[in-house]
Amino acid sequence: MTPTPQGKAMPPHHDGRFERPLSARENHGTVQPPRIALGVASERRLDKGRARLAERKKDLKPEQFTAIREALGARSIVLIGLMGAGKTAVGRRLAAKLELPFTDADTEIELAAGQTVSEIFAEYGEPYFRRGESRVIARLLLEGGPQVLATGGGAYMDERTRSNIKERGISIWLRAELPVLLHRVRRRDKRPLLASGDPDKVMRELMKKRYPIYAEADITVESRDVPHELIVADTVEALIRWLEREAKAAGGKVRGKGE
Ligand code: S3P
Repeated sequence: MTPTPQGKAMPPHHDGRFERPLSARENHGTVQPPRIALGVASERRLDKGRARLAERKKDLKPEQFTAIREALGARSIVLIGLMGAGKTAVGRRLAAKLELPFTDADTEIELAAGQTVSEIFAEYGEPYFRRGESRVIARLLLEGGPQVLATGGGAYMDERTRSNIKERGISIWLRAELPVLLHRVRRRDKRPLLASGDPDKVMRELMKKRYPIYAEADITVESRDVPHELIVADTVEALIRWLEREAKAAGGKVRGKGE
């Protein structure tokens, strides 16, 4: 790069004959270097930049994914958490990274019923939906593993489902604060529990009731308002730590962690 009289480096397209950067018109058709905001960057922009940097640091090795798959056996990685916690978005990416199938319990319920979750709630009520949900998840855990399984927000509240998950899976709670959840559920909402009533109030009540139960999950990962890839990286790391502890307790060892 050529230093300007002011000592500032100019972009590479500048040949030093000009004392000012080319205007957009003069520069038409040439490749611009990435624009870096040198003034006050918005918090969101900073967060995105931090996330990108952090993600690069967290790049995991293929052996680590193999080690996770081996340690899993036929078990499923089961994502639990409130609506908007990112179970489906994170689950899909996690499955792709681990090269495992991804299953969304709500989608499977809809396929089994031939109706949407909202229609089942409206026509038959919540208790009927819960019975179906529990049966479908039991089947998915029995037949589907190893897989990444995203469950609906209420699924883990069912005692039978909890014990099935304990037996055939490793549970991961994607824990999120209220503003993150509200921001996400407001963006696109087809959820029957939020269809009537104030989402803020409904979500607060659900958090109060469900968080103590969600806390029984094997692993907790904080779901924040950062790109999903970053939450996936946190999840993989937490999973490796958990599997290592499990292997140690069983007298074995999980291979592939930087060795
Ligand atoms: C529910 C969450 C929904 C869906 C149903 C009930 C809940 O799934 O199962 O609307 O009780 O929290 P998501 O958590 O995937 O939105």
